[in-house]
Amino acid sequence: MPRVEGLGARQAALRMLDAVLRRGHTLEAAASSSSGLAPPDQALAVAIAGETLRRLPDLDALIDGSTRQRLPDDSKARTVLRMALAQKIGLGTPDHAVVATALPLVDGGPRRLVHGVLGNLLRKGVHAAKEPRLPEAVEERWRAAWGEDVVRAAGRQIVRRPPLDLSFVSDDEAQAYAAAHGGISLAPRHVRLESSAITGLEGFEAGRWWVQDLAASLPARLIPAEKRDVLDLCAAPGGKTMQLAAAGHAVTSVDASANRLGRLRENLERTHLAAKLVEADATLWEPERHFDAILLDAPCSATGTFRRHPEVLYRARPAIIADNSALQARLLERAARWLQPGGTLVYSVCSLEPEEGEKIIADFLAGHPDFIVEPPRPGELPDFVTPTPEGFVRILPGLLEEQGGLDGFFIARLVRRG
Ligand SMILES: C[S@@+](CC[C@H](N)C(=O)[O-])C[C@H]1O[C@@H](n2cnc3c(N)ncnc32)[C@H](O)[C@@H]1O
Repeated sequence: MPRVEGLGARQAALRMLDAVLRRGHTLEAAASSSSGLAPPDQALAVAIAGETLRRLPDLDALIDGSTRQRLPDDSKARTVLRMALAQKIGLGTPDHAVVATALPLVDGGPRRLVHGVLGNLLRKGVHAAKEPRLPEAVEERWRAAWGEDVVRAAGRQIVRRPPLDLSFVSDDEAQAYAAAHGGISLAPRHVRLESSAITGLEGFEAGRWWVQDLAASLPARLIPAEKRDVLDLCAAPGGKTMQLAAAGHAVTSVDASANRLGRLRENLERTHLAAKLVEADATLWEPERHFDAILLDAPCSATGTFRRHPEVLYRARPAIIADNSALQARLLERAARWLQPGGTLVYSVCSLEPEEGEKIIADFLAGHPDFIVEPPRPGELPDFVTPTPEGFVRILPGLLEEQGGLDGFFIARLVRRG
């Protein structure tokens, strides 16, 4: 068979999608285990897999509308068709390249089927969905929790490239950077750039900024300025540790992952900031003293990060959400014991599941009458954040949509009575 240009990238994308959809890996992990490709082919493979995951329900609707018998969800023919259509719709790949790189991925009968279905669809013309869909189970869950408007906004956002948010040590630096690079600043020490490409951006090596979604920068903004001895629990790779250190706190950062703590250490070195690092499982670790403030950014389903990691919507099954909730409740219970009377505890998750946010705090408060919610005070957070009636911060899809949106987040600030 003659060599087909770009086939290696498609083969790698197919393997990545299999690792994500059948084996529950993250796209990043699946991509890092695909070796031997030249960097441009590797980038193309990740782009194809990512684009496929962003548009999966709409791609399936196109495929199902063109096949007499429904193709099994995990069949190779379906995945190859999904990838081909994603390239056409999301990456603007020409028809001949779409077809030429799809057919060698399947043999025998499926090959004829893929050829037929793809030829048909391309002849008719395929377009991006006007109202992009999320996986059905996610739509049902989020419709029940947040309503139809949020589901639709999430659909619009999943197919859009998110902007790049940078956090700075000083606000003067952030404002100067925004002016020099055509960015906008939506909060103190924040700059938003339209392009999501970090490579080559000025100031990274010099440690002037770090990448941090604007929503992810909100929890640390709720740690009172006057508190000095701060525990950052589940801290790596360290976006919040850097914010806390930059604000002048003495920070102890705990994380169970040696790898991720390594990235935290590199981040601190690069930004010339300091924190005490502890590699420990927080369900077993005991500190030597109590802290003035604790930030618990708990491990979670991360469904709020679907704009950059569309696969989270396929990985976050109800059983995984339930396991996360149990761990989050346990971590919160322990963290609460390590707080000085009068101290502040901020709990956050980048999840859009109430079981990992609102419910964790409601259950905790029911068993801890010595803790109360302290809502954000005017001026503590950017104006676009409106606290919930309970005094929590809940960032949902649709917020600041025109400016590129934010990750979904839940944040609660609790104070231990003195
Ligand atoms: C949401 S991420 C933290 C992000 C971080 N706060 C930041 O701003 O960059 C959750 C972290 O929890 C850590 N983790 C998970 N289980 C843990 C445990 N039992 N004890 C300590 N850390 C844990 C993970 O390694 C992961 O780095």
